[in-house]
Amino acid sequence: MESYVFRVRGETVDKPKVVLGVSGGIAAYKACELLRRLTESGHDVRVVPTAAALHFVGEATWSALSGHPVSTEVWSDVHEVPHVRIGQEADLVVVAPATADMLAKAAHGMADDLLTNTLLTARCPVVFAPAMHTEMWEHPATRANVATLRDRGAVVIDPAVGRLTGVDTGKGRLPDPAEIFEVCRRVLARGVTAPDLAGRHVVVSAGGTREPLDPVRFLGNRSSGKQGYALARTAAARGARVTLIAANTGLPDPAGVDVVRVGTAVQLREAVLKAAPDADAVVMAAAVADFRPSAYATGKIKKKDGEEPEPIVLVRNPDVLAEISADRARAGQVVVGFAAETDDVLANGRTKLRRKGCDLLVVNEVGERRTFGSEENEAVVLGADGSETPVPYGPKEALAETVWDLVARRFG
Ligand SMILES: Cc1cc2nc3c(=O)[nH]c(=O)nc-3n(C[C@H](O)[C@H](O)[C@H](O)COP(=O)(O)O)c2cc1C
Repeated sequence: MESYVFRVRGETVDKPKVVLGVSGGIAAYKACELLRRLTESGHDVRVVPTAAALHFVGEATWSALSGHPVSTEVWSDVHEVPHVRIGQEADLVVVAPATADMLAKAAHGMADDLLTNTLLTARCPVVFAPAMHTEMWEHPATRANVATLRDRGAVVIDPAVGRLTGVDTGKGRLPDPAEIFEVCRRVLARGVTAPDLAGRHVVVSAGGTREPLDPVRFLGNRSSGKQGYALARTAAARGARVTLIAANTGLPDPAGVDVVRVGTAVQLREAVLKAAPDADAVVMAAAVADFRPSAYATGKIKKKDGEEPEPIVLVRNPDVLAEISADRARAGQVVVGFAAETDDVLANGRTKLRRKGCDLLVVNEVGERRTFGSEENEAVVLGADGSETPVPYGPKEALAETVWDLVARRFG
């Protein structure tokens, strides 16, 4: 895994200090994978498990994988005052999995072991990745504790939906460690202790719609969904509740994001209209087909000897961006569109911004080998207020961060 240099609190740091808190949930074993990703990408990780966590994964594993001694309580190495020092020195604290009990203790400022002491002494960004049974996650006490922690500036990643301990399934599963790692990386890179999108709900569309001709064929486009996923990930790391409407993407679900899967432009419109009413921002990064075949053949369209194929007649799809821009679901909602242009990029972008009526339009030049499917992007973000923000060629997450900077400024 590639190592990298971080800027933490304005300073270049080549080995950020991360505290990995592990509390007593069945998903503790997955924290080993998170630990491996953090150490292999150049972080100095100190693992602080709770006593309950050691029932699931033993001290030897944490110590060997992190290269540091491991303790659960404040009475070891007292001369080094670990209950204060570990938190004070950290550039990031991540608790994964965070039990219902740990969320409660953290929300109420309890300090009865090394991890809870560390949480009180840390002045760096803190990320919680809760994992528990759905009933525990949905209990009003847990909801209140999560709200308190978020209000104080912690990033609390929503659990994923899936198989839980035993045979039951539901919301409460620890997200994929690779996705928790991405959240940590982004939170650390930003280095702010108060996420600026905390308390906001944002809706992001991603991918490309497919308009079926028959049960096996469709008209589609080259959008991979990577830019929309980068927007969803960065928004979650900045504290937002994120609904990601994904059209035909094959990418892993970002941690802490509600993913709604759609196929066609009409389905995407329905999903956006359903999610938009309580959204503070809607970012339409999906490539939505302008047209769809006027007819759908219920059986596969067959070749007929000696006959030319029937021409495909197209009809217009709804213009979702124009519709949500014109009928804002709530006052002050910020609407962002994306325009992929192959020529006259800026002039076409300005015309499109006026026609669509959105607040921001991200305009980029696309072609067979540009933007689609790649990890990089280059764009200009046009504002309805006449502003122009160029974003140089770079990772799609850098463009995503710029979009959220501009959106957050419009929230006031
Ligand atoms: C097999 C088993 C699995 C558990 N899994 C979870 C879990 O996933 N999430 C959770 O919040 N609590 C879970 N618990 C309960 C916690 O271990 C218990 O609340 C404990 O006091 C947590 O301590 P800690 O927060 O100090 O780590 C589990 C308990 C057992 C016995």
